Amino acid sequence: MTTVTATGTSTRTPSVGTARTRVEGVEKVTGAARYAGEIPFAGLAHGWLTLSTVARGRISALDTDAVLAMPGVLAVLDHRNAPRLNTDFVSLLGQRPDPTCAVFQHDRVPHLGWPVALVVAETSEQAREAAESLVVHYEPEPHATDFGADTPDSYPLDGFMPALTEKGDIEDELAASAVVLDATYTTPEEHHNPMEPHAAAALWDDGRLEVVDSNQGATWVGGDLANLFSLDPAAVRVRSEHVGGGFGSKGVRAHQVAAAMAASVLGRPVRVVMTRRQMFTLAGHRSPTVQRIRLGADAGGRLRALEHRSLSHTSTVYEFVEPSAGVARVMYDADAHRTENRVVRLDVPSPTFMRAPGEAPGSFALESALDELAAACGLDPIELRLRNDAERGPVSGLPFAGRRLADCFREGARRFGWAGRDPRPAVRRDGRWLLGTGTAAASFQAGAAPSTATATAHPDGGFTVRIAAADIGTGARTALTLVAADALGVAPERVRVRIGDSAFGPAMIAGGSMGTRSWSWAVKAAAEELRERLALGTGIPAEGITVRSDTTAAIGALAAAERHSFGAQFAEVAVDVTTGEVRVRRMLGIFAAGRIINPLTARNQFLGGMTWGISMALHEEALRDRASGGLVGADLAGYHVATHADVPRIEADWIDDPDPDDPVGIKGIGEIGIVGAAAAVANAVWHATGARHRDLPISPDRVL
Ligand code: MOS
Repeated sequence: MTTVTATGTSTRTPSVGTARTRVEGVEKVTGAARYAGEIPFAGLAHGWLTLSTVARGRISALDTDAVLAMPGVLAVLDHRNAPRLNTDFVSLLGQRPDPTCAVFQHDRVPHLGWPVALVVAETSEQAREAAESLVVHYEPEPHATDFGADTPDSYPLDGFMPALTEKGDIEDELAASAVVLDATYTTPEEHHNPMEPHAAAALWDDGRLEVVDSNQGATWVGGDLANLFSLDPAAVRVRSEHVGGGFGSKGVRAHQVAAAMAASVLGRPVRVVMTRRQMFTLAGHRSPTVQRIRLGADAGGRLRALEHRSLSHTSTVYEFVEPSAGVARVMYDADAHRTENRVVRLDVPSPTFMRAPGEAPGSFALESALDELAAACGLDPIELRLRNDAERGPVSGLPFAGRRLADCFREGARRFGWAGRDPRPAVRRDGRWLLGTGTAAASFQAGAAPSTATATAHPDGGFTVRIAAADIGTGARTALTLVAADALGVAPERVRVRIGDSAFGPAMIAGGSMGTRSWSWAVKAAAEELRERLALGTGIPAEGITVRSDTTAAIGALAAAERHSFGAQFAEVAVDVTTGEVRVRRMLGIFAAGRIINPLTARNQFLGGMTWGISMALHEEALRDRASGGLVGADLAGYHVATHADVPRIEADWIDDPDPDDPVGIKGIGEIGIVGAAAAVANAVWHATGARHRDLPISPDRVL
């Protein structure tokens, strides 16, 4: 549909906000879309990683001669012959690189499953057989992998936020409170498990490195590889056209680096693919947490004291903190307010970002604690939250750029049928099942990071937009097509968006719920400038007219404010107290999360997060074996993620909440779907049974 404005310019009905199937959907479902592990190269050799079988120690010898004599084997790389790497740099996200990706630089083994060698062969099967035959001798040392509240030598760690925030006197306010809660919550080690395993092929051409990869940001991975191999950033090209999930795990990892090393040694392309099992030690994970929360409230439920302390683990080679206490800095104010994130170094693989790092486990603890406080105060859990809805950032003191949390609760309560809920636990029954309902609040930070994009007009009336974005399954390519179409004032069918190539210029990663917002900003800027250029009426030459945008200055000028998405989660569960089985019967999430670009894929993203919340509440748990220091059941048979049979009818919807300071109104929806979801389920289990579960997952053995 086309309308004509007063000035005579043609303005289309906006495409942003309309439901669109994925522009690459047919390619994906017909198998035409190729992923990193299946793109062919002439002369491709295959690398297979050999991982350590001890949790701590030193490599004393590698019997490589026997392996080199095996069929098809071309080379074995290990710490004795591998090219040296530079690890003295700061990555795109402001962090130093995790030394786990700087493979084969020394003989130390800091955890079980550490990469000790790469065997390269003509075929993947030959490489695997040789890598699994390689005998590695170790001088083992005692290891420590046990994690818990009493683990010694923990320390505060800043990470992306200060380790500690503190105002007022917690002890004084607790002493003066009518109701006090002091409870400890734990969450287990969890793993990303994207459907597509990590895979990369590397080739060198005249001093230039090209990598075809599965990642969350071509700029990010390309920059890290340039630094590691001491190359000019322009000499590295990373392509990542289709990505089968990432969830925080797909940055620079051992496989890209090992592939690039082997390709340089052999002078031919080399691909390295991780197995599912290898991903449990090489792809990062979410640290387990122990979180202690102390709340003090007056008789009306108003918080006088809020203390949230979190402990997570990190490896001995890298510092990463799961900042679970950060969620309290946004959600609730109190006269005395204290939050702290601590870590302990153990002989475990390095943890990393995993969907809603901090907020996912942090909201389980905090939103469970609020539920416990509501019961102690005799208040409805929603009413307690409304009474404590913060007007300004509890720690920052800054105003919120939109905080429609209360509206999410009201809309959610209406649609879920919360009114008239009997607050008493363990009084509803459906045959052998005890029934209960629970709710929890959600939030996730909204941000934007500088990116560049180009927009090209072609003589045939089509447009091409290029940006080093990553579509990790979110529908980003489709969302950017809609944003570009509106900015150009044309139908989306005339716009082709190309992503996943570091040659397109620097761009933000698909992460931090910031991808689509950051890229849309740059895409819109380039497309609008192109549209203005075309309005001057110049002809379009055969090579097209291209303009480039860079949002660095515009994003740097953003006013300081608390920017977050918010949401309200609702769950109904049934618990069989004779078998310990918990079934989620229905779930509803209502979000205020900025302008929604594509309702179809946005709903998918919320539902995916909420499904992961069910999984977190009831199923996922990576258990570490003390004797070996490794995981028990490091595969999808031993590590249970929610499957279709575990997931009931889930609904996700949103209320209007455009960000006033974003050119498109976006806030970001990548992570908020999981936040609060596990707490809503756990709170429903309490309502069903009267038993409070403070340790995840709520598995049958814990229910009984
Ligand atoms: Mo996400 S944990 O920022 O990929």
